Amino acid sequence: MLEIFKSKKRYKEELILDMNNVPKHIAIIMDGNGRWAKKRNLPRSMGHKAGVETIRKIVKESKRLGVKYLTLYAFSTENWKRPKEEVNALMKLLVLYLKKEVDELNKNGVKINVLGDIEKFPTECKVNLERAMEITSKNVDINLNLALNYGGRDELVRAVKFIIKDLEEAKIKTENINEELISNYIYTKGMPDPDLIIRPSGEQRISNFLLWQCAYSEFWYSDIAWPDFNEDDLQKAILDYQNRDRRFGGIK
Ligand code: FPP
Repeated sequence: MLEIFKSKKRYKEELILDMNNVPKHIAIIMDGNGRWAKKRNLPRSMGHKAGVETIRKIVKESKRLGVKYLTLYAFSTENWKRPKEEVNALMKLLVLYLKKEVDELNKNGVKINVLGDIEKFPTECKVNLERAMEITSKNVDINLNLALNYGGRDELVRAVKFIIKDLEEAKIKTENINEELISNYIYTKGMPDPDLIIRPSGEQRISNFLLWQCAYSEFWYSDIAWPDFNEDDLQKAILDYQNRDRRFGGIK
């Protein structure tokens, strides 16, 4: 079967994928844009631009396959350490993406959410994100979570502060603090945990992504750089996921 994946030919996922066992929530660390660009003697920002094209394809394909939540790690709390020009290029790409795509996303039933604290983002980004969330707020086909200024540790620190505040205001009691309650104080409140986390581009680490939520996620890595990642790779990841034995710490 692996031979199929090595060929350039697209394969028919209907023949292979179990459509009743498509992950409900897929999260992706969109890695490798910089290296992709470097290989082509292009500025890093061109790698990110190419990465946006992949986002378009993968959102569409995820919806077509019946994925209900797609979370994309677009800017981490650590990405501020990058050169100012790269940070600015990413912000511009985000604005461009939202301006260009929001109507199409809306037509396709995509609901846009932000995971992360966008307070520090440029006004143009915030305005366009809020507009996109507002326009798509009623959609139910697929949730597109954009993780922006997101960090798993930061998310937990923030949750602890909110919990302490609610304790002080007697809105909650210490004895009621449990996993479910904590899940309600983080950005993914009300969403299922990711079933599958995909990281292209050869690195095999979590990089501060969805630390609480990934407790029982299946991981899938690939050497393909994000700009080269396509629908077949997504299907390949899903097929691999479908062959995993998820026991959640129990016994089957
Ligand atoms: C990681 O690759 C990628 C990022 C930090 C940014 C991802 C952003 C986009 C794909 C575009 C902007 C987002 C939206 C939602 C429009 P890297 O730069 O770390 O690659 P490298 O490891 O090869 O250097």
